[in-house]
Amino acid sequence: MSRSGNAEDLRRLDSATAHLDAPFAIVDLGAFRANAAAMASRTGGKPIRLASKSVRCRRLIEQVLAMDGYRGVLAYTLPEALWLAALGTSDDIVVAYPTADQTALARLAGDATAATSIAVMVDSTDHLDLIEKAAAGLTDPHQVRVAMDIDAGFEALGGRFRAGARRSPIRSPADAVALAEAILSRPRLRLVGLMAYESQIAGVGDNPPGRPLYAQAIRLMQRKSAAELADRRAAIVAAVRRLTALEFVNGGGTGSLEGTSAEPAVTEIGAGSGLYHPTLFDAYRGFTGQPAAMFALPVVRRPGPGSVTALGGGYPASGPGAPSRVPSPYLPAGLRLDKEEGAGEVQTPLIGPAADSLKIGDKVWMRHAKAGELCERFSELHLVDGTAVVATVPTYRGEGQTFL
Ligand SMILES: Cc1ncc(COP(=O)(O)O)c(C=O)c1O
Repeated sequence: MSRSGNAEDLRRLDSATAHLDAPFAIVDLGAFRANAAAMASRTGGKPIRLASKSVRCRRLIEQVLAMDGYRGVLAYTLPEALWLAALGTSDDIVVAYPTADQTALARLAGDATAATSIAVMVDSTDHLDLIEKAAAGLTDPHQVRVAMDIDAGFEALGGRFRAGARRSPIRSPADAVALAEAILSRPRLRLVGLMAYESQIAGVGDNPPGRPLYAQAIRLMQRKSAAELADRRAAIVAAVRRLTALEFVNGGGTGSLEGTSAEPAVTEIGAGSGLYHPTLFDAYRGFTGQPAAMFALPVVRRPGPGSVTALGGGYPASGPGAPSRVPSPYLPAGLRLDKEEGAGEVQTPLIGPAADSLKIGDKVWMRHAKAGELCERFSELHLVDGTAVVATVPTYRGEGQTFL
């Protein structure tokens, strides 16, 4: 269902990796860099805060942070943020999701570098209590930087229809002011930013293949949601800015770089998926990136004419258990998964005209549905530049770090 690659890419990738035994994962640096530059050119000059969950490889995160247009990390857990700060990957890290981890919060409040480099996300006074509790046992805790998460979901029909991730209960300017005042009243905390991520726009392709009516419905919802959110986000930001100065207002993602960055109230975009350009991001009208992250599986047997079986491959992506979440055959073109078996735990049958040209021992190239999750399956990424592997770098998992 996702697009296939071309014969020249197949020759190039096969030849660059001829010395490697599959399964393995690669990042095609030409595509990766082109995607990074294209993303940065679509934000009207506003910086992209790199969503690390969508990369999960420190060396690649550091490469992107060194590029124009990128500033800071949008991390996914506090232990991850502490690790990145300690290693010097960034001194500007926002943890995008709330934490209840008392040990990590105590480490944050107890360490000067961490406390100045990291902001944690809150959306309720319960989060504030947890931070204060974790810091209470320390002799001289540092102030903890916090950011407020705002619900950016779309609601219609009096709340009976909702699109967008269920995250923060903070939705109105009054909600935001009440929480901001609670933060400002606690001297151990410092409010530094706001975040409002519109997953129903940034993470939902408006051009789902073979579903024209659903596509129309998505586009209508996204138009209405963007208009509603622009006004609400501006009102919330203005109301909180009347109480305190903010360092940042974060919004958007790979699928909404232009739209979100055009809102005056937003100062930065949080994005990362577009770097690897997994299959879920094929379904957008607004942009086309290049597939940059792939994994190779070895063909290990041939059940009969028109099919081969590859070893491994069952790496589904998180989210609703839908067909869009399974990996897709990419190269050679002309292969598809077997509907009965899908991508299997230990083997993946591949069907189609290209199967008969494959020999046992050949590689098939697959794409993951999401971005960084691929790195939870491999301990290293081979970096292909043109026709050669120029480096092999550890994923988070390869560094012994499996945060989620
Ligand atoms: C808070 C937040 N911001 C931004 C993003 C967008 O990230 P990406 O562009 O990597 O899909 C996400 C993705 O889930 C997110 O949770």
